[in-house]
Amino acid sequence: MAMMLNYLAFQSLPSVALLPTRAQRSLKLSVTSSLYSSSKGKPLSSGRAKEANINVVHRMSPEKVEIFKSMEDWARSNILTLLKPVEKSWQPQDFLPNPASDGFIEQVNELRERTKDIPDDYFVVLVGDMITEEALPTYQALINSTETFYDETGSDNTPWATWTRGWSAEENRHGDLLNKYLYLSGRVDMKQIEKTTQYLIGSGTDFGPRASTPCALTIYTSFQERATFVSHGNTAKLAMKYGDEKLAQICGTIAADEKRHETAYTKITGKLFELDPNETIMAFAKIMRSKISMPAHLMYDGHDENLFDHFANVASRIGVYTARDYGEILEHLVGLWNVEKLTGLSGEGREAQDYVCGLAQRLKKVEERALTRAMKEPTVSFRWIYGREV
Ligand SMILES: [Fe+2]
Ligand SMILES: [Fe+2]
Repeated sequence: MAMMLNYLAFQSLPSVALLPTRAQRSLKLSVTSSLYSSSKGKPLSSGRAKEANINVVHRMSPEKVEIFKSMEDWARSNILTLLKPVEKSWQPQDFLPNPASDGFIEQVNELRERTKDIPDDYFVVLVGDMITEEALPTYQALINSTETFYDETGSDNTPWATWTRGWSAEENRHGDLLNKYLYLSGRVDMKQIEKTTQYLIGSGTDFGPRASTPCALTIYTSFQERATFVSHGNTAKLAMKYGDEKLAQICGTIAADEKRHETAYTKITGKLFELDPNETIMAFAKIMRSKISMPAHLMYDGHDENLFDHFANVASRIGVYTARDYGEILEHLVGLWNVEKLTGLSGEGREAQDYVCGLAQRLKKVEERALTRAMKEPTVSFRWIYGREV
């Protein structure tokens, strides 16, 4: 699920799109963290940790619980089948020099030769993607905090709990593979990267209160998985352009996983639209009205308070994830779920439908301005690349 839906690109937008990071933070419900010292009430680690949020388990009405219950058989045969059996799954080692082989050192040297001319800005984006993937425990914890996906024993056999564990197990390989590749490349400061990951997992995340019901979370994750598919696909294309076919293959393989995950979450959402169109369209509109807040937006390296924004801006500048992508994902989902054709909605439901259907067009109007802004942002020093500026 790594992604960096770009705040900066949208900072000038009104409420139709994304709220700036700080405004979004003000919506947070309360402050909690073991990272706070109990005596002084100050954060022990990250300035961002204080902005971390309690993930509230939102109670669903019995009818809503019933809807998810009624989908269990369907989920077993339509969603769990989208998980790949472990024996048929790729593993990071498939793409990395084999430390037990005689040619290990030569393979590492070849890897370093391939990556030596790749520009720093690409590495900044790849590092940000990797760190976002590495914060996976946070995302699984958050998904488990919803009533439907809740895994009470840690090994529940509901299809929702089974899916979440299988999905997490697949995702776990993404950060692992990128981490090892980056380590072997010798192009980045691993200690700074590792610190950022520790800060991020310690800070948690905030998908926003509007993404806290199972229905909203499913829509949110549909968006996220598609965005991740797009961004990993673009890092693959760039790696190819820079002549590192192996890295292109790695990013492309991860992108393919994200696509399969997107299929699962969009299918669940599609079913929700079928069973409860009114509630689902209202959840969709609510999420889009606030914004899609990023899973890694509390990213911090111990120095740069705006690290996520800086990373997202570079991603936009090199075309890995832009304001245009955000609008296109929305458009794609609206079409996929036939949102325009929903019928039998309440007044509020129709209002939500109109809002969502018109949003992509409204975003298009400000897209160019957002892209231009991102291009004009000043260069920033990143500790991940030994303080060099991009
Ligand atoms: Fe994913
Ligand atoms: Fe991922």
